[in-house]
Amino acid sequence: MNTLDCIAARKSIRAFEDKAIPREILECIVRAALHAPIGMALFENLHLSVLTSREKVDAFTALCREQSGDPTADPVHGAAAMIVVSGKRPNANVEFANAACMIENMLLAATDLQIGSLYVNGAIGALRESSLLPRFRSLLQLPPEYTPIGSVALGYCKEKFEPQHTPKNKLTGIDYV
Ligand SMILES: Cc1cc2nc3c(=O)[nH]c(=O)nc-3n(C[C@H](O)[C@H](O)[C@H](O)COP(=O)(O)O)c2cc1C
Repeated sequence: MNTLDCIAARKSIRAFEDKAIPREILECIVRAALHAPIGMALFENLHLSVLTSREKVDAFTALCREQSGDPTADPVHGAAAMIVVSGKRPNANVEFANAACMIENMLLAATDLQIGSLYVNGAIGALRESSLLPRFRSLLQLPPEYTPIGSVALGYCKEKFEPQHTPKNKLTGIDYV
């Protein structure tokens, strides 16, 4: 897919098939994150944790259920894999912007590969602010200087990704001045 088609084809997926994503595909998606623009090129301030199996993703979901007290909570909808972006400066706006650039690149790479993707922010924030953060870090095997900021859930899905000619967004104001 060319770039503009890929941008127009991306959409959030919230129903995934129970099928593992091959390692080389995950590596390709991770490479897209490494091409993202990063403020002042402080690349070393960011860290990616790839949950490569459904078993690891289910462990994440179990933590979210424990944190929320909701035994049916399912923030990643049975994804086959997840990539969590962490940063050294979780209180800096720029770190969230950096993570978002990496995440969007990964969403687009997944779309190009016909793999469903979802930007998962809420559950990461809830775990980050909770007493379960040490167990979340442990699941990610995260080096201690990093804190989780955002994530992408990934999986094969029934949806096909075709460019949509009209954006879903009809509400954002635009002025050409
Ligand atoms: C910063 C950010 C945080 C998001 N967090 C979540 C989330 O925690 N859970 C979720 O299901 N979707 C999340 N989304 C996905 C949005 O709900 C989705 O992009 C929006 O509804 C537009 O739909 P589309 O992605 O299909 O175009 C997030 C998107 C962004 C950009």
